[in-house]
Amino acid sequence: MTARAAATVVLAAFALGGCDDQIKHLDQRTPFFNTMSWQPSLEAYEERARLPVPGTMPIDGERTYDLLAADTMLVSPISGTEADLARGAELYSQFCTVCHGVTGAGDGSVVGQNRIPDIPLLNIRGELTRGYTDGYIWGMIGNGRGLMPPYRRIPAMDRWYLVAYVRQLQAEAMAEEAAAAEAAAAEAAAAEAAAESETGEVRGTGGGP
Ligand code: HEC
Repeated sequence: MTARAAATVVLAAFALGGCDDQIKHLDQRTPFFNTMSWQPSLEAYEERARLPVPGTMPIDGERTYDLLAADTMLVSPISGTEADLARGAELYSQFCTVCHGVTGAGDGSVVGQNRIPDIPLLNIRGELTRGYTDGYIWGMIGNGRGLMPPYRRIPAMDRWYLVAYVRQLQAEAMAEEAAAAEAAAAEAAAAEAAAESETGEVRGTGGGP
């Protein structure tokens, strides 16, 4: 066999087999057959986004606060005017609705099977989140936690507008809960009154000793 014929046979083997296994096999015997499929590399999302090294000076000159520091040291600098809330609503729809849903109930469009898992912590209008300080929620946006990614790219001031808007969503939830409780109480009272009038009739017609 001439060298040329031999080369043709090798190439034909590639062409027929043509699969990774065969290349891998060759790879092990002849290291110079290094292929791109055998390189050290990271899969997409294999690593979480890295936070800056402690002490890093941010390019916008703003100090960073971790969750604990934000929780204990910071107080909202805004009062929650209509303009503040409008800005908050705009940011919320851009950054938060996909996961937390329009009302904050945790029913965003990316929540579900094979996506963001449907966990109770996604509900940010409920009692648990109401109990956090403004600073904690502000810190939560910048640092993330658990499955929530950090949104440090949202400027510090915008994060306060978001906090004010989350508070508004919570106030709406509380108003809804109060209305539902009132309706339930009214229903219970009506049912009790109906039951009473029924027993009254029984007493009236049955006669007593
Ligand atoms: C990619 C989905 C996703 C996005 C977008 C997102 N979050 Fe979250 N968020 C989560 C998850 C998941 C949790 C629960 C975290 C955990 O597991 O500890 C969470 C938790 C929270 C909590 C704490 C809830 C609690 O009671 O512990 C707050 C507050 C919050 N998010 C606010 C926001 C705000 C404001 C935005 C928009 C800037 C936002 N999130 C954007 C996924 C998201």
